[in-house]
Amino acid sequence: MQFGKLALLAMAGLAIGHPGVHEPTSYNAVSKKTFLHNARRSLDQCADHLERRGFNARAKARRAATVAKYQKRGILTRDTDKVVNTSHHSSLDVSPSTSASELFSKNPVCILAPEGEVGPFWVKGELVRSDVRDGEDGIPIILDGQFIDINTCEPIQDLYWDVWNCNTTGVYSGVQSSENGNGNDATNLDKTFLRGIQKTDADGVAQFKTIFPGHYGGRTTHVHVIAHIGAEEQSNKTISGGHVAHIGQLFFDQDLITQVEKTYPYNTNTVSITENADDHVVVAETEDSNSDPFFEYALLGETVEDGLFAWITMGVNGSASYDASRAATLTSSGGVSESD
Ligand SMILES: *[C@@H]1O[C@H](CO)[C@@H](O)[C@H](O)[C@H]1NC(C)=O
Ligand SMILES: *[C@@H]1O[C@H](CO)[C@@H](O)[C@H](O)[C@H]1NC(C)=O
Ligand SMILES: *[C@@H]1O[C@H](CO)[C@@H](O)[C@H](O)[C@H]1NC(C)=O
Ligand SMILES: *[C@@H]1O[C@H](CO)[C@@H](O)[C@H](O)[C@H]1NC(C)=O
Repeated sequence: MQFGKLALLAMAGLAIGHPGVHEPTSYNAVSKKTFLHNARRSLDQCADHLERRGFNARAKARRAATVAKYQKRGILTRDTDKVVNTSHHSSLDVSPSTSASELFSKNPVCILAPEGEVGPFWVKGELVRSDVRDGEDGIPIILDGQFIDINTCEPIQDLYWDVWNCNTTGVYSGVQSSENGNGNDATNLDKTFLRGIQKTDADGVAQFKTIFPGHYGGRTTHVHVIAHIGAEEQSNKTISGGHVAHIGQLFFDQDLITQVEKTYPYNTNTVSITENADDHVVVAETEDSNSDPFFEYALLGETVEDGLFAWITMGVNGSASYDASRAATLTSSGGVSESD
């Protein structure tokens, strides 16, 4: 597991960030209710559709797993408590070359992915690339996401997954803000660590190599998702056009976070931890819903420090179009702040 060991080596020049508190952007409870209502309906329709025809053998196995999951956890009306208390630790033996079919056939599907907050730190114009680490220290993790259109129940091919998360000490690249590390450091605008974009394949799957996120004040550990549909890749490895069909945040089991936070350099972060159960976005994405925005995961080695493989299926409304507010834009001459 080369990938696991390598990232642990480069620790030279380490400085501890000064993570601040991020004020959440406002959340529209009314549209969430409508979304959940519609999505629940479409979930039922999808279940029927899959039941009737299935799109392939993998989907059959996936359905079986879904049924098993719901049998185990109780049907459909899950809530925040149940989701945050559910272990997503898989016994599946995986490696970075495990195929999508193996991965998703043995594991439950989360058809429904409610819209979450974009948060204050999306950077538009990031690069299409699978390894987004840029040498950033931390526990390596492979994120594997599968996107399904809840209108058709089919995987969405050629969707561009825009990913971002903070580093081990709770700082995002690409933005300059007093609420994100050292607000006087303009060089952070030009940094791209832990940000990137990948295109889904015929199974609706895209994959990133990144590091397990750290944390900052007021938020649990999370990974951001923007799903672009209809975008085109340009010659400079950025995307243009299309529409944003989904904005969300993905989470990890609390006991996994606890293990990670004990390791270096996560354990140098003195900002107090907000747990999943107390996180307003976890609550917003799970209350009164059947959604489970938590990664399933498996260890790539003996301990978490050897690396992780984490995967999730997101059901999105392919015809929806959202405005994603951005903090900055990456251009050919570096990052440009939207405000200040
Ligand atoms: C996280 O990123 C900030 C900004 O680049 C940096 O100052 C800090 O050293 C990083 N944390 C670690 C552990 O490298
Ligand atoms: C979840 O865990 C919390 C804390 O351990 C506990 O108070 C709560 O009852 C649990 N909820 C469920 C549904 O198991
Ligand atoms: C999907 O998005 C379209 C366009 O916004 C909307 O009309 C439709 O109701 C949405 N479907 C669901 C299931 O939310
Ligand atoms: C990529 O090309 C577009 C179109 O020319 C340009 O606007 C953008 O700044 C470029 N981005 C980077 C990172 O080079």
